[in-house]
Amino acid sequence: MKRVFSGIQPSGDLHLGNLLGALVNWSKMQEDNDAVYCVVDLHALTLPQEPDVLRKNTVELAQLLIAVGIDPERSTLFVQSQVPQHPQLAWLMECTVSYGELSRMTAFKDKSNRDTTKFVSAGLFTYPALQAADILLYDTDFVPVGDDQRQHVEITRDIAERFNSRYGETFVVPEHVIPEAGARVMDLQKPDRKMSKSEGESPGTVFVLEDPKKIEKKFKRAVTDSESDVRFDIAEKPGVSNLLSILSACTGEAPEDLASNYEQYGPLKTDTAEAVIELLRPIQARFAELQSDPAETQRLLRVGADKAQVVAGEVLARAKRNIGLLA
Ligand code: TYM
Repeated sequence: MKRVFSGIQPSGDLHLGNLLGALVNWSKMQEDNDAVYCVVDLHALTLPQEPDVLRKNTVELAQLLIAVGIDPERSTLFVQSQVPQHPQLAWLMECTVSYGELSRMTAFKDKSNRDTTKFVSAGLFTYPALQAADILLYDTDFVPVGDDQRQHVEITRDIAERFNSRYGETFVVPEHVIPEAGARVMDLQKPDRKMSKSEGESPGTVFVLEDPKKIEKKFKRAVTDSESDVRFDIAEKPGVSNLLSILSACTGEAPEDLASNYEQYGPLKTDTAEAVIELLRPIQARFAELQSDPAETQRLLRVGADKAQVVAGEVLARAKRNIGLLA
């Protein structure tokens, strides 16, 4: 059986990009694989966090993952900081990746350049080494992620190959799995930017737990363009193409085929909003049930962490042995 691993940060609220880009595949891939899914709270520390908020977000994100369909009986679902092998292997990864490689990561460049007066932690820079540790600790074959994580999986492969060639076969070299539709959900107001957990009002971001009326309004106000024909053309018509991609991810139909059903933007916006609201309805209902019992969620996460440590411990021991550290 193949091993699948992926992670998600407990920072901000879960949005439609996370769901369509990654979580739909997480849920699907647990059916035929040994799936390991992680709430990566250590990654969230790369930006300053409010302790109580981080704790609450971590448990609620785990509940949302369960609400989306991750089955903690079938998959291993855990919190990164409860498995100490992650930061331990991360050091070995930091010593296997170069400063130059880390400098080329677009996620780092974006986040560190956004506001030059802001504190930029060293963790934000070395973040891909921790991510490589997350993935390699489980002898992972496949990593389901959205398109923005492609570069981080690539660098993980480079690190694994370098380590293997220096110290002998140690790690499985993983492959990313990126969905056809929904790989890059764009901001509804700024369709040249990916949808993200931006701060403030966020008129361009649709949250998984958002009220249906608000969702409808956000789609109604989505930026399109001054023409009126509906075509799937990302370069020329990014706003319309984004709506078609979202509808495609919800319905399973190709965006080009969907485009031929519409002559105007209005009905496309209404149908996309409706499809998203229907997709989110059962998730919101299930989350409301789970939210009433955070102690049970924390118990499930503890069980997940114990299960994860069995594999993580073996792989870390292998890496330590091969690199020359004492057992
Ligand atoms: P994070 O928490 O930012 O996002 C979680 C997942 O959501 C996907 N995603 C999107 N997909 C499509 N359109 C968007 N607008 C969009 N925004 C986010 C991301 O690609 C991701 O799959 N570094 C990772 C977390 C991580 C990880 C790992 C992932 C840590 N260790 C090991 C895989 C394997 C991150 O910050 O994702």
